[in-house]
Amino acid sequence: MLFSSLTRIAALAPSILGCPQHTNNRRSHLVGRQTNPAQSPNANITQNIWAYEASFNWGKLSPDYRLCQTGTQQSPIALSLSNGLSLNHVPSFNYTGKIAGNFFNWGYGPAFTLAHNGDWTSHPSFTYDNETLYLKGWHIHAPADHSVGGDRSKTEMHFVHVDAEGQEGAVLAFRLDPGNFNSIFFEQLPVMIGFDEMQIQESIEIGLALAMDSVLYFNEFFTYQGSLTSPPCSEGIRWFIARQIMFTGVEQMQAILGASTYSARAEQEVWQHRVNE
Ligand SMILES: *[C@@H]1O[C@H](CO)[C@@H](O)[C@H](O)[C@H]1NC(C)=O
Ligand SMILES: *[C@@H]1O[C@H](CO)[C@@H](O)[C@H](O)[C@H]1NC(C)=O
Ligand SMILES: *[C@@H]1O[C@H](CO)[C@@H](O)[C@H](O)[C@H]1NC(C)=O
Ligand SMILES: [Zn+2]
Repeated sequence: MLFSSLTRIAALAPSILGCPQHTNNRRSHLVGRQTNPAQSPNANITQNIWAYEASFNWGKLSPDYRLCQTGTQQSPIALSLSNGLSLNHVPSFNYTGKIAGNFFNWGYGPAFTLAHNGDWTSHPSFTYDNETLYLKGWHIHAPADHSVGGDRSKTEMHFVHVDAEGQEGAVLAFRLDPGNFNSIFFEQLPVMIGFDEMQIQESIEIGLALAMDSVLYFNEFFTYQGSLTSPPCSEGIRWFIARQIMFTGVEQMQAILGASTYSARAEQEVWQHRVNE
């Protein structure tokens, strides 16, 4: 009985379930998170909850989440330098100027959704294999989703990119760790003390090239065919993971962690991911 009610709910609202898809400038996307139903705009949707602590079980929560269990290109995966870096799908970037957007907490950590005027091609972009994709927004997971050689960074930032029609196509992953200096990318953002899911700071302007600078514009990277890292675990997403770690100041990392909740999916078996191919 519980199962059938979940089925119906998922069918009603497939587009608003799942990892932050940056489809809005409001808090309504937070329904993907386990929340108190009393606070939810739609109590039914919160019954269809998934939790990172039980990511092994997502495929059983709803038929719409079946790929989480049966997919052949699920993310994240463990990466290793022993198999080298990618020489294929080399990205080039068009990330100039400052861009406006909303800075908020996606329920699991800091996030930013770019202001959108209906034309995706006006957003910062990158091109690989003659295909150009446009930045929709970014969000942070804690700890990192992707390990490299067994090392897992404290957090991982995902730059979610869509095609000209707004369909998700690629994610750029930045592994974040504390270092000796403040990150000028994070210095642009408002203070995150007490930065919980109820807060949203509108019309913040940031320079995104600062993030690219910090990982040397993905001059060395891993790439593979993967999926969303939360239900419905849709595939067809190309992942790029910078080899270079993006360093923050110690207090900056503490602020990020203080605004974050455990949000890494268990690593998946490598299958048809074609890593670096
Ligand atoms: C929740 O589900 C109940 C029972 O199916 C339905 O009557 C109600 O309208 C739903 N509420 C919302 C907000 O969708
Ligand atoms: C870079 O992106 C801007 C829009 O943000 C666009 O106007 C410009 O033509 C792009 N430049 C190149 C070289 O593609
Ligand atoms: C990109 O386009 C050029 C010119 O049309 C073509 O020669 C090349 O094979 C294309 N590359 C890929 C990876 O599709
Ligand atoms: Zn993510």
